[in-house]
Amino acid sequence: MSNERAQGLLLDRLINSPLQHASQSVFKDMTSYEALCKEAQKEPELFWSRLAQEHLQWDHPFSHVLDKSHAPFYRWFDDGALNASVNCLDRHLGTECEHKVAIHFETVDGKVTSVTYRTLYERVCQLANALKERGVEKGDRVLIYLPMGDEGVVAMLACARIGAIHVVVFAGFSAIALHERLQDTGAVAVITANVQCRSGRELPLKAGVDDAIALGGCEHVGTILVYERTATAWPRQEGRDFSYAELVSQQPTECAPVSVSAEHPLFILYTSGSTGKPKGVVHTTAGYLLWAKLTMLWSYDIQPSDVFWCTADIGWITGHTYVTYGPLAAGATQVIMEGVPLYPDASRVWKTIQRHAVTTFYTAPTLIRALIKAAAQEDVYAPESYDLSSLRLLSSVGEPIDATAWRWFYEHVGHGRCPYVDTFFQTETGGHVITPIPGVTPLVPGSCTLPLPGMDVVIVDEAGEPRPWGQGGLLVIASPWPAMARTLWRDDERYRQSYFPEELGGTLYLAGDGAVRDEDTGYFRITGRIDDVLNVSGHRLGTTEIESALSRLDHAVAEVAVVGQPDPSTGEAVCAFVVLKKSDYGEEVARQIAQELRQQVARDISPIAKPKFIRFGSNLPKTRSGKVMRRLLRSFAQGEKEAQDISTLEDPSVLDHFSVIY
Ligand code: WT7
Repeated sequence: MSNERAQGLLLDRLINSPLQHASQSVFKDMTSYEALCKEAQKEPELFWSRLAQEHLQWDHPFSHVLDKSHAPFYRWFDDGALNASVNCLDRHLGTECEHKVAIHFETVDGKVTSVTYRTLYERVCQLANALKERGVEKGDRVLIYLPMGDEGVVAMLACARIGAIHVVVFAGFSAIALHERLQDTGAVAVITANVQCRSGRELPLKAGVDDAIALGGCEHVGTILVYERTATAWPRQEGRDFSYAELVSQQPTECAPVSVSAEHPLFILYTSGSTGKPKGVVHTTAGYLLWAKLTMLWSYDIQPSDVFWCTADIGWITGHTYVTYGPLAAGATQVIMEGVPLYPDASRVWKTIQRHAVTTFYTAPTLIRALIKAAAQEDVYAPESYDLSSLRLLSSVGEPIDATAWRWFYEHVGHGRCPYVDTFFQTETGGHVITPIPGVTPLVPGSCTLPLPGMDVVIVDEAGEPRPWGQGGLLVIASPWPAMARTLWRDDERYRQSYFPEELGGTLYLAGDGAVRDEDTGYFRITGRIDDVLNVSGHRLGTTEIESALSRLDHAVAEVAVVGQPDPSTGEAVCAFVVLKKSDYGEEVARQIAQELRQQVARDISPIAKPKFIRFGSNLPKTRSGKVMRRLLRSFAQGEKEAQDISTLEDPSVLDHFSVIY
């Protein structure tokens, strides 16, 4: 799309939102954006090679750029060597960045600690030394199970410093989920906290690690390092468990970084797929880090004077890339918040922006929807009641943002003077894929607009053939890029099958989302997952994972099917259709079983996966060949009955039993 065309055709729909203080920006206008896209298209290897040389600090330069010989297992900058923590920390020492604040950390009770790059460096070195003392070596896996805070960032970088591979598990995940990840990765150490402080309560965390280990088969865990968030006592096993005070505080504040190959795994991050077992997505060092830094410059126009606030937890890819690696590689100042932004109430968000003079606010549509609701209730929750004039850029990720919420955010929070950057990406892509360039790409409410330079995004049909604009299809990325996931941990075959399916020719990366390009602008609109993956408040959940958790209540449950249902606050909600073993139960029993089912899911996966709606019936609707008719269940859950689907049912009345919601 040319700029003139977009502007000529769509003046009424497109919003040109200039960016303040953009004198140093990489992109001046759409022409410079298009020029970079062309450069990437024409000579991709030269393009990426130039950027990798310009933006990363190498211990040993690379001589080859892309190795395709084992496609789809690509290798980038293969013979180069570097260290990710050096690129995020050491490289800023001796510059004006050294004594600049890297992190303003705000606890749930409003206490703020400001950590400079120098202090962060020293804390990372101390923790890295402690891990070394415990025998952790390059290539070992270290599991991080920490509440949101600066300590999590320190832990990730300490692993990177010694070449250990970190595996961050969101602290909201259960002991069972933790156990699965401990076993799958064979982690030798765990970094956790005694408790986490959330929503006015202290919740034990170390005890969860003990529960996970008690499930068996975790003899490889030789060290558990416990950060004492509060004075609360925690269960200790001598010789294995250590407090920070014992093991970390006395360590030297220097630790020689381990230089690793560009393709050395930096981390494994688990995410849900369409089958039961979560996928251990592997990212490597150089390509991932390059994109983390570049997207800070391109999508956020990050400047030395910026104060960046991304509300994501480090347990997700957004936290990895836009809390830890991106902001630090770019030398930015950022805000990290303990607990949830909405506790004690919605005013915390506005107060935080005001207090730290946040310039760049990156959050999730689900939080925006909650803020809209709160703002309508009382003035103290309304953004207008605060001085938010420091803001220059707004952004969101995780789910489609509807045009109404987009406009509210743009007008009430940004006062029409902050570009809204709707970023589309995934755990597997490492960083942003489709996103407007702030101040440059004309915006359309609810659209993530166009791919970043170097991202070869195409919409294809089921056979891998490109679809014309205006016609929906599968979102694929047709050329490799440095930040792409390299494999699934110890499961190359599943990686190939999940992301490079033979039906599409075996070379296209299949994102798992449907998408369509606007007929006039060519802008992308993401239409949602095409597989059995749900998106609840921006959290990715596998329906089969939830189904197996529910089936584990096997004294009561005969059969289950889980589908997603559109929800005004969480985007999508989990809806479970359950057939009980006993057919003669009353309402009281049903209610009690529904409660047990929810507890079961919270225990097996996480409270975020609990079904909002549970429906009991005597049989699941099935095709004559015995397949559960999910599409029918989805439309039934939404209150629609599709005549066409029902006609293939042997007994159309099976659905009526599911009418009551628990
Ligand atoms: C899935 C990836 C929380 C970090 C990003 C999520 C959906 C993500 C958008 C967006 C519409 C989006 C997709 C994608 N998604 N961003 N801007 N518009 N949908 O990472 O947990 O790996 O989930 O989130 O369905 O496939 P993730």
